Amino acid sequence: MGKMKTFLITGGAGFIGANLIDRVLKENNRVICIDNFLLGKQENIIPFLTDVNFHFIEKDITIIENLFDSIKDYEIDYVFHLAANSDIQLSGQDPLADYKSTFLTTLSVLECMRRKGIKKMFFSSSGAVYGEKPNSTLTENSNLAPISYYGGSKMASEAFISSYAHMNDLDVTIFRFPNVIGPHLTHGVIFDFIKKLKQNPKSLEVLGDGTQNKSYIFVQDLIEAILMIALSGDKGVNIYNIGGDGSTTVREIADMVCAKLGLKDVSYIYSGGDRGWKGDIPTFQFDVSKIHQRGWYAKHNSTEAVQATLDAIL
Ligand SMILES: NC(=O)c1ccc[n+]([C@@H]2O[C@H](COP(=O)([O-])OP(=O)(O)OC[C@H]3O[C@@H](n4cnc5c(N)ncnc54)[C@H](O)[C@@H]3O)[C@@H](O)[C@H]2O)c1
Repeated sequence: MGKMKTFLITGGAGFIGANLIDRVLKENNRVICIDNFLLGKQENIIPFLTDVNFHFIEKDITIIENLFDSIKDYEIDYVFHLAANSDIQLSGQDPLADYKSTFLTTLSVLECMRRKGIKKMFFSSSGAVYGEKPNSTLTENSNLAPISYYGGSKMASEAFISSYAHMNDLDVTIFRFPNVIGPHLTHGVIFDFIKKLKQNPKSLEVLGDGTQNKSYIFVQDLIEAILMIALSGDKGVNIYNIGGDGSTTVREIADMVCAKLGLKDVSYIYSGGDRGWKGDIPTFQFDVSKIHQRGWYAKHNSTEAVQATLDAIL
């Protein structure tokens, strides 16, 4: 990365943020991390606290002034905006959770960038913006029709990014992630299965019918791509789908978690239906040729990503 740069990483106490901070600090940069521990964890940032180039601020950034006051004295080169509500199932019960944590955090970031004249941003969007299109291969130009409040809030965030970028000459990289997994997980199917099996190693409640078939990307592969493309100096707003090869069913994940924990004869109790919860998208297919054209390929396919995650966390 060359000369020391200053990164503002929102949501840095979360799963992807912690992995990103680790990598950015190792390359001799300064990190300002802001998080309110909604889902993030103290333990994710403890290893960085002894690094003089790491600055942590505990604040809720849905409030613009909270964010502005926190960063007003820093010269920031890049904003990596990861703060959001990542628990899609939870916000199904409370639409305002995503409006606040997923959308308003983005608006705050954009407004602070405008006031401070910061020009470069990375945004973690999601495949959830496309909605449910079971028989389509989703390209970056596919129609956006989210079916969850989370997907709607990510889509609204992308829309505001587009308008702020045009009005203020921002350069923004947007990635639409599939399911991301790896060390420091804070949520998701692998996290849930491990938690449940540690409580009860005899039976496992599985949401849906277990046939949900999704693509998983290993977090280190994702971070390679984020840093390669977001720091490449591209102009304007550029959107990429990202993902590795293949997909993995929920049933396969349950089998892999049980095998890794050394558990045999666990009975699976399915909640039934073709999906985990209303708003869940049971299967989708990304076209990732655009990011491949930039020379990035995932090192792990979906099932290898699941295994690498289990090896890292168990
Ligand atoms: N993990 C995935 O599979 C996945 C998939 C698609 C998109 N994403 C996106 O990637 C980003 C990171 O996801 P993650 O998996 O690391 O989730 P995470 O929940 O572990 O991290 C998000 C962090 O944001 C923080 N946060 C939330 N609201 C905040 C607020 N108001 N002020 C300050 N901090 C706040 C949380 O405490 C948490 O630490 C999110 O934007 C998420 O929507 C993740």
